[in-house]
Amino acid sequence: MEQQKRYGHFDDNNREYVITDPQTPWPWINYLGNEDFFSLISNTAGGYSFYKDAKFRRITRYRYNNVPMDNGGRYFYIKDGDTVWNPGWKPCKTPLDFYECRHGMSYTRVTGRKNGVEASVLFFVPLKKWAEVQKLTLKNESNEVKNLKLFSFEEWCLWNAATDMENFQRNFSTGEVEIEGSTIYHKTEYRERRNHYAFYHVNTEIQGFDTDRETFVGLYNEFADPQVVMEGRPRNSHAHGWSPIASHYIEVTLKPGESKDFVFLLGYIENEQDKKFSAPQVINKDKAHALIAELDTTAKVDKAFAELCEYWDALLNIYKVRTGNDKLDRMVNIWNQYQCMVTFNFSRSASFFESGVGRGMGFRDSNQDLVGFVHQIPPRARQRIIDIASTQFPDGGCYHQYQPLTKRGNNDIGGGFNDDPCWLIFGTVAYIKETGDFSILDEMVPFDNQPGSEVTLFEHLKISMDHVIKNLGPHMLPLIGRADWNDCLNLNCFSWDPNESFQTTENVSEGTKAESLMIAGLFVVTGKDYVALCNKIEELKNGKIENFNSSTLKSFNFSAEAERMQKAVDAMIEAVKKHGWDGEWYLRAYDFYGNKIGSNECEEAKIFIESQGWCTMAEIGAEDGMVAKSLDSCKKYLECEHGMVLNNPAFTKYIYEYGEISSYPEGYKENAGIFCHNNPWVIIGECIAGRGNDAWSHYAKILPSYVEEKYQTLHKVEPYVNCQMVAGKDAFKPGEGKNSWLTGTAAWMWYTVSEFILGIKPDYDGIRIDPCLPETAGDYTVNRKFRDAEYEITIHPNGQQKGVKSVTLDGQKIDGTVIPYSAGKHTVEVVM
Ligand code: GLC
Ligand code: GLC
Repeated sequence: MEQQKRYGHFDDNNREYVITDPQTPWPWINYLGNEDFFSLISNTAGGYSFYKDAKFRRITRYRYNNVPMDNGGRYFYIKDGDTVWNPGWKPCKTPLDFYECRHGMSYTRVTGRKNGVEASVLFFVPLKKWAEVQKLTLKNESNEVKNLKLFSFEEWCLWNAATDMENFQRNFSTGEVEIEGSTIYHKTEYRERRNHYAFYHVNTEIQGFDTDRETFVGLYNEFADPQVVMEGRPRNSHAHGWSPIASHYIEVTLKPGESKDFVFLLGYIENEQDKKFSAPQVINKDKAHALIAELDTTAKVDKAFAELCEYWDALLNIYKVRTGNDKLDRMVNIWNQYQCMVTFNFSRSASFFESGVGRGMGFRDSNQDLVGFVHQIPPRARQRIIDIASTQFPDGGCYHQYQPLTKRGNNDIGGGFNDDPCWLIFGTVAYIKETGDFSILDEMVPFDNQPGSEVTLFEHLKISMDHVIKNLGPHMLPLIGRADWNDCLNLNCFSWDPNESFQTTENVSEGTKAESLMIAGLFVVTGKDYVALCNKIEELKNGKIENFNSSTLKSFNFSAEAERMQKAVDAMIEAVKKHGWDGEWYLRAYDFYGNKIGSNECEEAKIFIESQGWCTMAEIGAEDGMVAKSLDSCKKYLECEHGMVLNNPAFTKYIYEYGEISSYPEGYKENAGIFCHNNPWVIIGECIAGRGNDAWSHYAKILPSYVEEKYQTLHKVEPYVNCQMVAGKDAFKPGEGKNSWLTGTAAWMWYTVSEFILGIKPDYDGIRIDPCLPETAGDYTVNRKFRDAEYEITIHPNGQQKGVKSVTLDGQKIDGTVIPYSAGKHTVEVVM
């Protein structure tokens, strides 16, 4: 058999993915930065940086969908005699004697070797710093003295990434830079309303520089052969207008065996209004000098890097499993958690498929992302919940997205997605269970960011539930609005105009009968959570949380509220059983006219995954066999080689009353693609039903490490993370992966494996143990930090798929399956 081409492999000890061939089937990227300053970096050092917001504060320029792809980034050109090469192969593409890219936890190391010289660049953003460090080590491995000419390269973006790409009549006249020693400052628009600038520095004396792109590259040259580099002669150009860049020129002599480090620093600075200038037209560089001084030696940089590694050690020590199965352990212990941090930070804004200008933070997306992240840094999750809730409207509806820089709801997209409110409960409950911090419910949170409109977060949860109850349709099922989780099921849109966006065009909701079974299931799941939360508060009210500050909560009758909501949940369950069951599976929706969607009666798309996932998680009609039948139908109709498709059969024609969903070609995206995001819903349904074998086989199909081989050529995208979509069985090219990194799949995969398969579930009073495993599973141990406790939990499955027989805590058998929380170290033995 022909050996399949491989581009890389996992290195678990270093928590890295090692790419050994620069010509991957698609750029395989990584993310740098953890809080404010971020960068995207590909395996050939392509990509860009921004401060907080990839749209409004883009620091370096990137051209999406370019030819060749992934063109533009931080490039080092090394001119050794007549040979010019880059450590990451691109853009010169000079064949290298050795190439390697190691993507690790918030850092990337790219190494190239050519003609006896090794160049290795470590890229990372130090903790709490607004800068990307690029530590370049040049080493002479030959027997002769090397006289090298080194050119760095970054291209400035004129801040707003959207206008940067379109408003050339202005842009070509605004660019401004300053040069001081070895630092190039980018100060476009600083003179008027901006109080920020960027700089690119190197910690050595330079022998020249360039800041004007056309001069550096040459009008008819390319990044692959910039004229300055090819001639080996900088021009010391000073950009005015046009396209400012930053390039240092350094002459490097290396004796045989000698190596030298250079620290390059791409930084971002904000100044107070009255301290903007040090002289007329001259930017105040005090803060830049201070930042540079913190990172201007190899020792300082190495220390900052060690701190970053310790930070990740600590994060990844919160939940650690040892199953003896490397493929599972590496996803649980490393890559799945890492991807969760990235999705928490970026929502769906900036990847190599999301251009950073389209979408900010999604209301539903960010709440889901939170569930994958909350155990890592709970205080950040807490702030996120408040930020998200602050974009809610007084009637419980929500802005669908908000901008991370301003935290304001995004008017372009607006609201009206009727699943959105429920997700706030999903996120908040996860936070409280992880931390035991009920005080978040007492936080005063505005509506639509309007000062003076604040009510407690708990009241936001309440109006969220009420928003569903107040928007029921003719079958007493939730009205869908613009769409539910499936952005493309636009049942009130009716568009024939190709210039309209399905998401924002008029929502003809007057007289609509369009109802969603997905929201129905979501409402039941989150409604049960809400009821349990109210009951828990009531229980604690006389005990632990006698001191809610706000008067509303002090006097609120939580048990009456629990009762009220339980009734609504029961009614919803009845409505689903009566009007939402098709015989072998749950319906998906009713359209504007009240016709069934996702029914055996339909010509195409007879069954959809979302309602199977949510209604089985909600256990609706389990007693009547509905859950088991629905799960079986998923296996029968939705499952294929690469996972479960979203709907089956795919739509082959555009259906006016369904909206965007039927506009996609068969097998892609929301039209019968394997939308990885919702596979875990069915897997959790399987787990709740106790069907461990089925749960596992669905899970393994979309677990990157299990299908790493497929990623190398078929899936194409990064083999260390999940992608949003793998082309489904009806597609032209089934199995192709697209839209990697920024997908709710990360959080859902985490939630599924950590809580439902391995069965370690944070709960109000402690940790609930409830695994659901394939019969073949062996003993395993989970180390879980939880609040101020640390548990070492060993599970003995004994061939059982589900059902805990006994739990022993520190040598004592306990009643039930919840390990009661108490600070300190504990050992737990679980027999199934
Ligand atoms: C994308 C969106 C998400 C939506 C999903 C399905 O992943 O970010 O909000 O739920 O598509 O349409
Ligand atoms: C498109 C995409 C969908 C995404 C939506 C967000 O409809 O297909 O996945 O959620 O845009 O705007």
